[in-house]
Amino acid sequence: MLKGLSTLAQLKAGALQGCTRLDISCGLTEFPREIFALADSLKILNLSGNQLSSLPDDLPRLRHLEVIFCSENRFTELPAVLGQCPSLTMIGFKSNQIAHVDDEALPPHLRWLILTDNQLTELPSSIGRCHELEKLMLAGNRLAALPAALTQCQQLALVRVAANQLTAFPACLLQLPRLAWLAIGGNPFNAALERNQMDDVASVNASEVTLGQKLGEGASGTIYQAQWHLAEPRTVAVKLFKGAVTSDGWPHTEMAVCRAAGEHLHLIGVYAQLLGHPAGDGLVLPLISPEFTVLAAPPSLKTCIADVYASDLRFTWRVALLLAHGIADAARHLHQRGILHGDLYAHNILHHSDGRAYLGDFGAASFYSPDAAWAPALECIEVRAFVHLLLELLARIDWSAADDEVRLAVMCWQEQCVDLAGAGRITFADLQQGLWRILQNN
Ligand SMILES: Nc1ncnc2c1ncn2[C@@H]1O[C@H](COP(=O)(O)OP(=O)(O)O)[C@@H](O)[C@H]1O
Ligand SMILES: [Mg+2]
Repeated sequence: MLKGLSTLAQLKAGALQGCTRLDISCGLTEFPREIFALADSLKILNLSGNQLSSLPDDLPRLRHLEVIFCSENRFTELPAVLGQCPSLTMIGFKSNQIAHVDDEALPPHLRWLILTDNQLTELPSSIGRCHELEKLMLAGNRLAALPAALTQCQQLALVRVAANQLTAFPACLLQLPRLAWLAIGGNPFNAALERNQMDDVASVNASEVTLGQKLGEGASGTIYQAQWHLAEPRTVAVKLFKGAVTSDGWPHTEMAVCRAAGEHLHLIGVYAQLLGHPAGDGLVLPLISPEFTVLAAPPSLKTCIADVYASDLRFTWRVALLLAHGIADAARHLHQRGILHGDLYAHNILHHSDGRAYLGDFGAASFYSPDAAWAPALECIEVRAFVHLLLELLARIDWSAADDEVRLAVMCWQEQCVDLAGAGRITFADLQQGLWRILQNN
């Protein structure tokens, strides 16, 4: 808050000339017109956490503006003027009360749209004009269907429509050739599958655990080391959810999926749900040893859908393949149980330098019936996510100590996977077997 106030004072004093990013959060009820003094430089404008309900008609004067965040404000519609901002590629209006998106509100070069936690009942067909759209985040709205025009957004790779009112699986999603990360849990069409699993979830009261140091944090939760006061006390991890609805969906869907996923060598797993904590509900998880570290950081504003790896991260070919094999095996296990992970990303993988790995974070996961006509196509979506991961791992192999023969085998297999995944003709069982064959033969 203080920071916001002092930034506002600096802005008003004309002390921010030339700046490319501006963050102001201090209870603004009106857009500060002094921002236009930055028109020659401003690229990122973050006005989240204010009380705004409109933007000025001359906003396009900020002609270099690429990113605008107005989350946690009082907008009831997405301002139509955004559609006229020539350089805008990212719009984030999370947690407002937006019930309407104007036909003209979506700018032509939009790559990333966040309208999580609003009151949308429909999306305009004009979204089909956003040919560069890669990321569409709509969890926590009231959408009963998606517009057929969405199929024109052929670059869409990540879609969050969990915690909505979808009465049937939106088949248009299956026509998106690049879709790789899909969160669709917590909708009426899959509610029964979720309910069946909830009965099985054990619960622990917050008084039975003591939280310790923070271990990590994502969009939906904060993870702490904790002591679980059992007859034989246990050191565990506790994930506390940040809100009722997260950017990936409902916490109770995550609990149900965690439970239904069961135990697997390459899944983090879960002990119980945590109830009654003042900071919100959560999960009690096995604590993963600190020898395991997160494989990459989540995508940045620049990379949009691609995780960000440490620039010096390298693997031996065997470690890269072991890691990929473990994750393919975990995904195969999930699909066998009718679970789509939805967020199969390096930033949700904890890995050891010897190639062992755990896939975690079921925040975006959903249940599906493996017998449904669209199930194989749905599984192909997750295979695409895995192919991204696979290519990222293989690109980081240090080949200097490897035989040419192995390198050739890996390259041929990689090429085959990319082709088969593109054609929707490869499953996690195939991927896991292929990796295992190379590991065993070399
Ligand atoms: N069981 C665990 N043991 C140790 N660290 C964990 C565990 N689960 C999560 N973490 C850490 O917390 C981070 C965020 O967890 P995640 O479940 O992905 O949260 P979010 O749903 O908010 O993205 C992980 O990247 C990891 O570093
Ligand atoms: Mg995560």
